[in-house]
Amino acid sequence: MKLLVTGGAGFIGSAVIRRAIRAGHSVVNLDKLTYAGSLTNVAEVADSPAYAFEKADICDRAAVDAILDRHKPDAIMHLAAESHVDRSIDGPAAFMETNIIGTYTMLEAARAYWTAQGKPQGFRFHHISTDEVFGSLPADPGVKFTEDTPYDPRSPYSASKASSDHLVRAWAETYGLPVVLTNCSNNYGPYHFPEKLIPVVILKALAGAPIPIYGKGDNIRDWLFVEDHADALLLVVQKGALGRSYNIGGENEATNLELVQKICAILDEKRPGNAPYSGQITFVADRPGHDQRYAIDPTRIREELGWRPSVTLDEGLEKTIDWYLAHEDWWRALQDRDGVGQRLGTG
Ligand SMILES: NC(=O)c1ccc[n+]([C@@H]2O[C@H](COP(=O)([O-])OP(=O)(O)OC[C@H]3O[C@@H](n4cnc5c(N)ncnc54)[C@H](O)[C@@H]3O)[C@@H](O)[C@H]2O)c1
Repeated sequence: MKLLVTGGAGFIGSAVIRRAIRAGHSVVNLDKLTYAGSLTNVAEVADSPAYAFEKADICDRAAVDAILDRHKPDAIMHLAAESHVDRSIDGPAAFMETNIIGTYTMLEAARAYWTAQGKPQGFRFHHISTDEVFGSLPADPGVKFTEDTPYDPRSPYSASKASSDHLVRAWAETYGLPVVLTNCSNNYGPYHFPEKLIPVVILKALAGAPIPIYGKGDNIRDWLFVEDHADALLLVVQKGALGRSYNIGGENEATNLELVQKICAILDEKRPGNAPYSGQITFVADRPGHDQRYAIDPTRIREELGWRPSVTLDEGLEKTIDWYLAHEDWWRALQDRDGVGQRLGTG
């Protein structure tokens, strides 16, 4: 299959591209290279004849049209977005622009391209979204997000992603554009940008610095290993039912405090310091509007497509920490980027 991946220089998009190339697909990576994008994330496939890179903004219709015309993909996997909730609190404009207008632009470009191609049956526009569109859950472990959970976004980031999901469904209903959607839980793993919780914890611990935990650390997330997510996305783009959405989760719920303690314990074994790393944990003022709990019910993707996560949280964290310990050059080069290492989104 020839895939056009938007946001392929980011964390999840690059995992999709590395995996797609290994599986024998060809890939065009369309990315603007914002502060969050890095071509080193796809360096291992950059020399492959099956890979091409196009630097472009998804809001630039003429550029997207030209890229579609030049490469003629069989499917579009749309991941490009502004993705950091804290940054959306300080500067929501970029989130509205990229996540809403950018998705609208991609949909219109895809519709024109698909129509010009004679509306091929197999074409797919795969929109990658988040479980944060569903809002916040109570602590009761029996309650989880299903594909039918009503939307209730609460941050500028999740509201912009919810808007983009609505646009994708509208383009399917109104114009017949062949779409599939996925909403996934928090990802973690190799190449995770060093402003997100898990890399922050690893890098602050190694630096001997305070490890910040928002509020009481009792917010619960369902952690999904990025390689498992990439596997699920490639399955959905090829086998997902037309117009259907799939929730993807790791079935790995943990409070932020439990998560940080696990990371500290693994680091104590792999890179022992003078004292246990958990001694560096510091509670800081909470994020405004911090959602209490996210949890995904992945029954649909498991029963209809046979997907399930391959690692537990402990296994995934160990792989992730091994990767960060072995790739210091990668994360050091990103620590100079705008805003990285600073407390953002205090409202
Ligand atoms: N990371 C998570 O835990 C998570 C969870 C659920 C859903 N998602 C969704 O998955 C997708 C990818 O997330 P991620 O964590 O890899 O994000 P990321 O921030 O690591 O990467 C985003 C990529 O998009 C590119 N980009 C941003 N604006 C662009 C624009 N206007 N035009 C072209 N490229 C642009 C950036 O350069 C970057 O390479 C996003 O749509 C996000 O909402 C992420």
